[in-house]
Amino acid sequence: METDSILIRHARIVDPSRKLDRVGDLLLGSGEITAAGRLGPDRIPEGCRVIDGAGLVASPGFIDLHCHLREPGFEYKETIAAGSKAAAKGGFTTICAMPNTDPPVDNAAVVEFIQKRARQDSLVRILPIGCVSKGRKGHELAEMEELASAGVVAFSDDGDPVYDANLMRLALIYSSDLGLPIINHCQELSLSCNGVMAEGPVATHLGLDGIPAAAEETMIARDIALAEATGGRLHVAHLSTAGSVPLVRDAKARGLSVTAEVCPHHLTSTDQWVLGRKGEPTTAAGGLAYDTSTKVYPPLRAQRDVEALVQALADGVIDCVATDHAPHDVTSKQVTYQDAAFGISVLETALGSLLQLVHAKKLSMGAMVDRLTTGPARVLGESYSDLASLQPGTAADIVLFDPEREWTVDTSEFESKGRNTPLEGTTLKGRVVATFAGGSLIYQSPELKFEEPHVNA
Ligand code: DOR
Repeated sequence: METDSILIRHARIVDPSRKLDRVGDLLLGSGEITAAGRLGPDRIPEGCRVIDGAGLVASPGFIDLHCHLREPGFEYKETIAAGSKAAAKGGFTTICAMPNTDPPVDNAAVVEFIQKRARQDSLVRILPIGCVSKGRKGHELAEMEELASAGVVAFSDDGDPVYDANLMRLALIYSSDLGLPIINHCQELSLSCNGVMAEGPVATHLGLDGIPAAAEETMIARDIALAEATGGRLHVAHLSTAGSVPLVRDAKARGLSVTAEVCPHHLTSTDQWVLGRKGEPTTAAGGLAYDTSTKVYPPLRAQRDVEALVQALADGVIDCVATDHAPHDVTSKQVTYQDAAFGISVLETALGSLLQLVHAKKLSMGAMVDRLTTGPARVLGESYSDLASLQPGTAADIVLFDPEREWTVDTSEFESKGRNTPLEGTTLKGRVVATFAGGSLIYQSPELKFEEPHVNA
């Protein structure tokens, strides 16, 4: 008998929404999870396709609150189609697209364009984020209500901060009325100035302008004060400094509606990497390489920052991991460090990077999955909780990954158009084997093993 059912057998099921971490089976059919647990043969439909999940982790599909898909306007850097394939390969089934496109997402027509393109071209669910300000210029609020009605899930001028404090205050007032978060890229421009990397000994050694930690921390402190004054919903984008952690922790302790995210690169690499891959000078002459693939905003920082961020992620002070996937074309990066574009292509390496923390026992497997699923879903709001669950009856958005599988990052194999990553040539441990969205297999690696279809005795 023909059936669209798939059985994933003997996988380690990690479902933080139900505090579940045990070996079992998942049955998918008609786009949903139909059963979970230890399933006897009588529960399995005749002809069901069977995947051997032994040694693999099955979790809800990952949710990314922060990525740049560049469409419309910068299709030479990324498209919705390519970005969605990269997401599927990275285990993401829901991704939120930042509005620094051209035109920017500051009116309903652009939201509708993205939604239409997503329906036509995307393998994964794409949730658009709208601008805080008209044209992302930072002077006047965008039509936030119109954007909310069109379906944006948050507001942000990311790539730039909402610099004007009164504009941020007004945006936060609207955010509480609309029930949607303001995601701020916290950068005090009068402190970051012309900086291109973290302030510190490496910047001094290289003679590059540094960005002090206070450029991030002063704006987070301002935004927390404004969230408190307005009752607004603040989500702090890409935390990068040790000093940002207590600001968020205290705001939460005071019961404010403040959440935060951190990126894989800020958890696993430091400003030493600017010297060349993983801190080793790599030019043929043995000189300094100034690896522009490490140029990102906020910048890679010192080891003590990395340690504080990892601890805060493990503790839950930081709610979630977001990729800040920022694909760029080659010519934007093959220039001097000063002139290179900020950004790293992350969707396809995020899991491998984060698993380094799990293997090093700095983060439990359950916490890692939580910060990629229930954590971001909570930031989006109650109505998104089903996206982060393997509960029977929810959509079959699932990632199956092998935490032990070693692989070497080869950007020529990327689905993303952005090949800009300092991880090129690095061996990571842990890789996606299959991704399902609404029950459809949207990505499979060569390691995925199907067994003979199920036959009832
Ligand atoms: O590195 C970054 N790249 N940080 C940002 O905030 C923006 C992003 C981009 O759009 O390229």
